[in-house]
Amino acid sequence: MEIRRLVLDDLPASYRLSVEAFGSHPGGPPPTPTALPEGREVWLAVDDDGAFVARAAAHSYASWWHGRRVPTAGVASVTVAAERRGEGLLRPVFAALLAAAAERGEVLSTLYPTANGIYRPMGYEVVTSFDTVRLATAELAAVRAPAATRTRRARAEDLPAVHEVYAAWAAAQNGPLTRTGPRFAQTPEEQLADVTAISLAVEDGADGERVVGFAAWDRGEGYDPATAALEVHDLVALTADGYRALWRLFGSHTSVAGTVRLHTSGHDPARQLLPTSTWQVESRHPYALRVSDPAGALTAAGPAVPGLVAEVPFGVTGDPVGGADGSYRLLLGDGPGTCERTSVTGGPTFTPQGLALAYAGVQSCANLRMLGLLTGPDEHDRVLDAALGGRPAHVRDYF
Ligand SMILES: CC(C)(COP(=O)(O)OP(=O)(O)OC[C@H]1O[C@@H](n2cnc3c(N)ncnc32)[C@H](O)[C@@H]1OP(=O)(O)O)[C@@H](O)C(=O)NCCC(=O)NCCS
Repeated sequence: MEIRRLVLDDLPASYRLSVEAFGSHPGGPPPTPTALPEGREVWLAVDDDGAFVARAAAHSYASWWHGRRVPTAGVASVTVAAERRGEGLLRPVFAALLAAAAERGEVLSTLYPTANGIYRPMGYEVVTSFDTVRLATAELAAVRAPAATRTRRARAEDLPAVHEVYAAWAAAQNGPLTRTGPRFAQTPEEQLADVTAISLAVEDGADGERVVGFAAWDRGEGYDPATAALEVHDLVALTADGYRALWRLFGSHTSVAGTVRLHTSGHDPARQLLPTSTWQVESRHPYALRVSDPAGALTAAGPAVPGLVAEVPFGVTGDPVGGADGSYRLLLGDGPGTCERTSVTGGPTFTPQGLALAYAGVQSCANLRMLGLLTGPDEHDRVLDAALGGRPAHVRDYF
């Protein structure tokens, strides 16, 4: 058995393995590319007779954690050949994929598991989910009118402002991709051509117009309100009136599309502006995180609490595929926090899953202890909760 990177000639056989797992493309196989895509690396397990028996792809992303951009290996297209499942082939493929990601400085790894149990043994734990929810368009028309915020259609020259709104929102959450790098290298014209419209929420001030929100949406087919649905890929605002203005824009479709399908995650602040409680979850894709390099990931995120000076020793144990096991020291003080590996043992010990949940700020130390994901002295628990909590986990890009 050989574990190696995919090369261009491997694409047809690798594609067949993917189709076996995820089904065929509706329009037939895509044309074979003449070059491997940038920012994406595929790892294969190849049997002695040359057959491809397992594969996994890693996208080089960055995502927002604790207000900073952290390099992240986004794993997708994980497959084991049907006859070879249950043999433990994923582990060596992930070990190679994660070692290559570590060389690129990707201190975190994330993925959308089809079953949570597949990746837990490799140090991943579910921290949020990418959801599609259904809303009644008529209920959106009942959202209170904004005081002064208005909507208008985005043009190509508005897309930098759209990205600024997204980045300002994403920096206040844990988890969203930065939407930079090869996968997001579309021109403004291409981004606009992908959807029916990107609508802006804008405020007019003494210095001119300010974009405070945006929504990217597809109108969908037909105009029978009983069956037609409008699809909202992105709905992000930096003010309550920004959300109100955009919700009402969708509400104005009541006579032609009875349903709005919104792509969202976690406790979406957009929901706080709805007068009704309808939020029917139609599908849910869990999102899992692995802290591959605890010192690198904490230093890159630089968690900090103003006025809190502390030195927190901790350990990690139980990582079967990477190098996360060891002793560490988190240093909190003036400026962004840092973390270093140390040879001194002591302090509480996280499992990789416990560290993922703590890093994402989605479980307190007390809850991790109840689950057996954190053990040992508890005198630093309040400090860890304060340093790592406070930002809700969100994701808005499926891969
Ligand atoms: C999911 C898939 C890759 C797992 O392959 P596999 O050969 O069973 O994987 P491994 O033998 O290496 O097992 C890895 C771990 O996943 C667990 N696992 C495998 N399938 C699982 C499932 N459906 N639900 C929960 N856990 C599962 C195994 O028990 C094992 O855990 P362990 O080490 O604690 O025993 C394979 O079944 C497949 O290709 N399925 C179709 C495509 C798919 O769902 N891909 C995942 C996309 S996120």
